[in-house]
Amino acid sequence: MFSEKLLLRLKHSSQLTIMTGAGVSAESGVPTFRGKDGLWNNYDVQQLATPQSLRDNTEIFWKFYSWRRELLEKVKPNLGHYALVDMENFFEHFTLITQNVDNLHRIAGNKNVLEIHGNIMNSYCIDCGERIEGMDGFPKTESIPKCHKCGGFMRPDVVLFGEHLDPQRLRQAQDAAATCEVFLSIGTSAVVEPAASLPYIAKGNGAYIVEINAEKTPLTDNADESLIGQTGKILPLLIMALDKMR
Ligand code: OAD
Ligand code: ZN
Repeated sequence: MFSEKLLLRLKHSSQLTIMTGAGVSAESGVPTFRGKDGLWNNYDVQQLATPQSLRDNTEIFWKFYSWRRELLEKVKPNLGHYALVDMENFFEHFTLITQNVDNLHRIAGNKNVLEIHGNIMNSYCIDCGERIEGMDGFPKTESIPKCHKCGGFMRPDVVLFGEHLDPQRLRQAQDAAATCEVFLSIGTSAVVEPAASLPYIAKGNGAYIVEINAEKTPLTDNADESLIGQTGKILPLLIMALDKMR
């Protein structure tokens, strides 16, 4: 299933950079955004997940986020997530860039995670900046949660449509792409910028680009290798193949 070239590249790499998207969490029961079971089909996320909707339709905005947070409290990492934890231990330098806000890479045990779209379990006050990490201490019962310090509006710590990514985190992601020897793009439709450009930064700096996804994406034909299938199946097999080569 894996080419000799890929396995040798991985074996001799000191830096691996991975970018993940909603596909890695699909087998945990978290809906993806696009594709046949995508969130988009039921919700107009592009309208809901915006600063305008937070300001003008705060109750509906929070209904949507509370629903997603409650769903995420019930799910667990899957075999794909755990394989990426094993992967972290294989390489001297390892960066996991994720577009997912679901916290599952951290729960699984990955350490060097760059959450470029934020983390949905964290929130902060728009007025005074007070932060609440996780769901403990969060005013769950209020339909519009208010800051316990100043009474201001709370928002989830995620990047909304039309907002910029945290520049420092984005810079770290771009550096990790530019300096790796192998770049894996996993479970992402690879269409949302600036994340979609990261594999091209890696490629421009000589990295070997591998895509693992359930279907073809705009990246597929520009990658050095493409593995079509489920991450929960492919990633554990990849770890086994790497283990054998040690
Ligand atoms: P998408 O929903 O766009 O893409 C998920 C990809 O995963 C699709 O190409 C699916 O075919 C694939 N997939 C589904 N199940 C899979 C499985 N078990 N194994 C492998 N692949 C599978 O999600 P993202 O690319 O993450 O942004 O979307 C990018 C961004 O768009 C998100 O971070 C979000 C959204 O707007 C923000 O919230 C800021
Ligand atoms: Zn406040």
